[in-house]
Amino acid sequence: MTQPPVPTGFSHEKIETNNFLMIVLILLVVAVGGLVEIVPLFFQRSTTQPVAGLKPYTALQLAGRDIYVREGCYNCHSQMIRPFRAETLRYGHYSTAGEFVYDRPFQWGSKRTGPDLQRVGGKYSDEWHRLHLIRPRDLVPESNMPAYSWLERTPVDAEALPRHLRAMQRLGVPYSEEEIAKSAAAVQGRNELDALIAYLQVLGTALK
Ligand code: HEC
Repeated sequence: MTQPPVPTGFSHEKIETNNFLMIVLILLVVAVGGLVEIVPLFFQRSTTQPVAGLKPYTALQLAGRDIYVREGCYNCHSQMIRPFRAETLRYGHYSTAGEFVYDRPFQWGSKRTGPDLQRVGGKYSDEWHRLHLIRPRDLVPESNMPAYSWLERTPVDAEALPRHLRAMQRLGVPYSEEEIAKSAAAVQGRNELDALIAYLQVLGTALK
């Protein structure tokens, strides 16, 4: 019987037979590969600069966005149109990173019990949204969307807005001192349904 050849110098067998070494080297490869893919995105203009025409949310729209998050609309609606023909024919231009630079947190999502909402702004009238949010089945009989009728009876929390705009400013959203100072007055007397509709109507309008 001939003996198997004795490995000389470096041998891959050393890695494959040593669990610890294998784990450390896998982590190293994944970490380096990940950094090479992720880090450049933080510095790339197309992912960090707003698209032309993108404006920060007004006080009322920002309040509406909070209601959207609070009510969990993202559980049924995505805000992310993928660059496929079937999607762009149905919803419009695919989503680009520059449209979301003022969105914290993002509402991209992937669950679509209802349609994607990224370009719903301007698709319907305010009155359509009002009726639809109060009683969805009056307009779309087969809808399984919940009704949100109490929003119309709940005033917007105006006092919270200056602090919210200030926090967004710290995160890089270009709000002026004047906008922050006037934000509470800007939503005075408006109800949560008004705010939510104002938010829906601006969605996706920077890039049509
Ligand atoms: C249980 C899932 C579900 C939840 C939660 C939900 N929706 Fe819907 N939504 C649907 C479905 C299904 C449709 C399609 C039928 C219809 O138009 O009612 C829809 C349709 C819509 C449309 C019309 C979209 C279009 O292009 O025609 C809007 C706007 C909308 N929803 C907004 C909201 C908002 C705002 C919230 C949160 C307050 C919300 N939805 C919560 C399921 C949901």
